[in-house]
Amino acid sequence: MVVCTSGSESSGSTSKAWIVHSLLIGAAVAAAAAAAVSHRGFFRRLLRRGGYRSRVIGIIPARFASSRFPGKPLVQILGKPMIQRTWERAKMASTLDRVVIATDDDTIAKLCHEFGADVVMTSETCKNGTERCNEALDKLGNDYDVVVNIQGDEPLIEPEIIDGIVKALQVSPDAVFSTAVTSLKPEDGTDPNRVKCIVDNNGYAIYFSRGLIPYNKSGKVNPQFPYLLHLGIQSYDAKFLKIYGELAATPLQSEEDLEQLKVLENGYKMKVIKVEHDAHGVDTPEDVDKIESLMREMNIS
Ligand SMILES: *[C@@H]1O[C@H](CO)[C@@H](O)[C@H](O)[C@H]1NC(C)=O
Ligand SMILES: *[C@@H]1O[C@H](CO)[C@@H](O)[C@H](O)[C@H]1NC(C)=O
Repeated sequence: MVVCTSGSESSGSTSKAWIVHSLLIGAAVAAAAAAAVSHRGFFRRLLRRGGYRSRVIGIIPARFASSRFPGKPLVQILGKPMIQRTWERAKMASTLDRVVIATDDDTIAKLCHEFGADVVMTSETCKNGTERCNEALDKLGNDYDVVVNIQGDEPLIEPEIIDGIVKALQVSPDAVFSTAVTSLKPEDGTDPNRVKCIVDNNGYAIYFSRGLIPYNKSGKVNPQFPYLLHLGIQSYDAKFLKIYGELAATPLQSEEDLEQLKVLENGYKMKVIKVEHDAHGVDTPEDVDKIESLMREMNIS
C-alpha cells in the first residue's frame, strides 16, 4: 500500500494533520456504512453506482511526436512497450470503470489494440494531455463524472495512487481537481524541474512552485522540513475539465509555467493526497536504462 494512511509518519508536525484528517473522514464514512448494512461490498457499490461522482474514466494520452523523444510511448521497457506497461498498471486500479488510450497516431493505436486496449483517436493538434483528455471525453459521449489523466510516461505508476486521487475527489465535493504529492528529497529543493506544493490543514492545495516553498528564513533548504513534490497524475471533475481548457492563462501560471496554477488563481479548490512514490518518469532515451535497471533490482518483469 503506497498511499499514506495514518500517523505512522514520525514527525508530529502540524503540516501532517491534513493527511490524517482526510483518512479519518474516509474511515468514519466507511465505518458508518459498514454499521448501517452488514454487508462489506455496500460502501464500494454506493461509491461506484449511486455515490457522488461515481462514473470514472482513466485516460492515457499518448502522442507520437515529442521533441525530446519521438515515438516515446512505443519505447520498449524490458521487452514491453512503455504504453502497455502504463496501461496494465491503470487497469489494476479498482476505481476506474474504463481505461482508454487517447492517441493521434495509427501505429500507436494499432499496437494498443493488439494488447487489448480501448483506444480513441484524437487530433494531432492537441497542445497538451489535458486537451487530449477533453477531446477523448467528447468522443466517448461525456458519460463520466471523473476523468483521471494518466501520464503515459510513468510506467511504474501504482494503481493505489490512481484510486487515491479518485476517492479524494469523490469525498470532496467542493474540489474540482485532485492530484498527488510525495516527499521531496532535500537535494531537489532548488531544482526548478521539481515542482513543490504546499497544502492547507485539510489537504487542499495552496500553491505550486518551481521555487522552494515554504522558504526558510535562513535562505537555505531546511533538511527537517517535510517539503512536498508534485507528481504529474491528476483527476478532474468532468464538467470542470471543459472549463479548464477554456480558462485564459493567468499571471502566476504564466510566470511559473505551471498549468494547474490557473485552477487555483481562478478560486477553484484542488484536493491533494500524499503518497509514497519514487518518480521514475521517462523523458529521455537515457531514462529507459535507468528504469530498466531499477525494475531488475525490484524484480519486476
Ligand atoms: C529554518 O531551518 C532551520 C534548520 O535549517 C530550522 O531550525 C528553523 O526552525 C527553520 N525556520 C526558521 C524560521 O528559521
Ligand atoms: C492546453 O492547451 C490549450 C491550447 O493551447 C490551452 O488553452 C490550455 O490552457 C492548455 N492547458 C489545459 C489544462 O487545457
